[in-house]
Amino acid sequence: MPTDRLKVLVVAGARPNFMKVAPILRALDEAGHEGVLVHTGQHYDAAMSDTFFAELGIPEPDYHLGVGTATHAVQTAHIMEAFEPVLLEVQPDWVLVVGDVNSTMAAALVAVKLKEATGVKICHVEAGLRSNDWRMPEEINRVVTDRLSDLLLTPSDDAEGNLITEGIDMSRVKFVGNVMIDTLYAQIKNANASNTLERLGLTHRHYVAATLHRPSNVDDADALENVLRALGRVAETTTVVLPLHPRTRKNVEKFGLSALLEPLLVLDPLGYIEMLAITEGAQCVLTDSGGIQEETTALGVPCVTLREQTERPVTITHGTNRLAPWPLTAKGIFQAYQDAVAEAAEGDAPQPPGWDGRAAERIVEALVQATEAEAVSASV
Ligand code: UD1
Repeated sequence: MPTDRLKVLVVAGARPNFMKVAPILRALDEAGHEGVLVHTGQHYDAAMSDTFFAELGIPEPDYHLGVGTATHAVQTAHIMEAFEPVLLEVQPDWVLVVGDVNSTMAAALVAVKLKEATGVKICHVEAGLRSNDWRMPEEINRVVTDRLSDLLLTPSDDAEGNLITEGIDMSRVKFVGNVMIDTLYAQIKNANASNTLERLGLTHRHYVAATLHRPSNVDDADALENVLRALGRVAETTTVVLPLHPRTRKNVEKFGLSALLEPLLVLDPLGYIEMLAITEGAQCVLTDSGGIQEETTALGVPCVTLREQTERPVTITHGTNRLAPWPLTAKGIFQAYQDAVAEAAEGDAPQPPGWDGRAAERIVEALVQATEAEAVSASV
């Protein structure tokens, strides 16, 4: 049964969402479907949000919920309250959510409660990733969103095993690959053509790029001091560039740790293209971000992840990532950095399956197929 034009309500809220929705909105449009974009406003600074819309050619959101920062409960509740009338007005065929931020889970919760009344279905892009660490707010968001979704689209092979373990019906699960890598391939030429390294006084492969924003690293004074001392140890041997997340900047000031930033090249948060340029040019990346573990794998740049575990094991088994020894110490991180550089392979990086720049097309195909399958089952 052929599917008419689908109406898909696409939800984005925080920085790591924007590079995922950009190719999906484009692919929906190219296939003749209607993408309606909601920005929850979880991230609102120009550097954390507007820059990404401009650089990635994301259309102006059709709805902006303006929720901003609050505790998890209040932020989630505000998103739910503001998203419900939008869903009722738009009456989409699908609500599509990406990743694992509070906006992802909040929108999925609203949709599932309106399912009976509106017939809407939920699609989760980046389903099935698990750190198995329930102290991470993202792990709660991932598990809840997957449990609520009608269509679970996975980025890597490990995700399917996680969903089987949780008893998810496999007819709802489809492997589509990594949509963030679609954006990376679309923008890498612009990143390489930019004068970012020059502007920052960096030399290709002669600096380390670092990012830090996980609550486990930055919300506790001792943990933050430890990691900053480790970066300082690396900075004794090479330049360390650190674009600083607002959460981290606030906490550095709050805990009186500003002196530990002195040996580092500290920047405001970067836009997508500049961040991609400094990632591509780095000798090694030290990070606690999820997305940057994936981007370094796609680029073949050595990465040391400053966490106890990763929900993206494919970046270790197929890619260039490794975990720093836990608990994090300056000595352990420095050793992991040296090992990562010493063991770096030359030549093109082998890519995990489905990290080919075409995930967004497969996401749209999956939406169409799932809609058709439901129409068939409803008609028999
Ligand atoms: C959120 C996501 C995290 C993701 C990260 C990327 C959740 C639970 N966490 O964490 O998974 O990796 O985004 O950045 O959804 N702030 C600003 N300006 C902004 C946004 C935030 O100053 O535009 C400040 C807020 O005031 C707050 C802090 O940054 O103090 C944290 O923001 P929040 O959205 O709560 O979580 P993130 O740490 O950014």
